[in-house]
Amino acid sequence: MSASKPTPEWQPWKSAISDSDETTLWLRGHDATALMRTASFADVVFLLHRSRLPTAHERRLIDAILIAVSDHGPGSPSAAAARVVATGSRLAPEAAVAAGVLAIGDSHAGAGLACMQLIAEGLQLKRDENLSMADAAARILAATKERGARFPGLGHRTHSTDPRTAVLFDLAREGGAEGDGVAFIRAVEEAARRPVKPLPINVDGALAAVLYDLGFPPLFAKFIFIIGRVAGLTAQVTEEYTREKPMRIRIPVVYDGDPPKG
Ligand SMILES: CC(C)(COP(=O)(O)OP(=O)(O)OC[C@H]1O[C@@H](n2cnc3c(N)ncnc32)[C@H](O)[C@@H]1OP(=O)(O)O)[C@@H](O)C(=O)NCCC(=O)NCCS
Repeated sequence: MSASKPTPEWQPWKSAISDSDETTLWLRGHDATALMRTASFADVVFLLHRSRLPTAHERRLIDAILIAVSDHGPGSPSAAAARVVATGSRLAPEAAVAAGVLAIGDSHAGAGLACMQLIAEGLQLKRDENLSMADAAARILAATKERGARFPGLGHRTHSTDPRTAVLFDLAREGGAEGDGVAFIRAVEEAARRPVKPLPINVDGALAAVLYDLGFPPLFAKFIFIIGRVAGLTAQVTEEYTREKPMRIRIPVVYDGDPPKG
């Protein structure tokens, strides 16, 4: 009997991220034990996504973003979701953390992805039509409004000025990495001032602009938020477990449906 042809599921997966043998683990070709002795976690996040170690300046920016997004209080949607799950079950902390991650969306914590896409779109429009930065920003802002959407990366529930934005932009400028991404989002902030209202560039908008200038794709803007926020979510779940009673969360609800029948 002739040997049967391998079906697709028998083919080896291909991956360029990590490899290992009986005694060694390599991350993007770097010995993980050497990285453990010399690198920072931000270095390895950069390495995993870019296949090279960052410069000192790139490391500072990645670290600054991870710190900026690490936590924003128990009332932020991701932390609140994690705590609601934690209050009902102490047997699955991973479920509580995962619930927090699942609450990351286009309005909370994940706006950087769409923001970076709009930065790329706006800068392409600027090049294609030889527009000024201000005109390209105004066009993209108007197009967003026409779709009935809010501009991702602008506005904040708590902050009238997001304190994290200036730091990220300062660090980018100090390292000579403040480029068109930062210039574009600043122009959008300016363009929104009159037709909408003064809306601060929030941390999602700031990290999208900085990461655009560092050459990252839009997806990474959401992923770095998730990577950083998991640190805060684990602390939120730990506090819920250690400080609070199970089932302590009672959400006030006013019933305004049909009265009881019969
Ligand atoms: C973050 C956010 C939800 C805060 O919302 P909020 O507290 O309801 O904002 P405000 O009450 O100050 O908004 C008042 C007006 O400004 C407008 N506005 C707020 N953010 C806007 C934005 N990013 N783009 C355009 N208009 C915006 C709203 O349309 C609102 O008008 P409306 O009530 O007639 O719709 C909101 O700014 C937003 O959706 N931003 C985009 C998503 C984002 O960047 N999320 C990450 C947050 S860190």
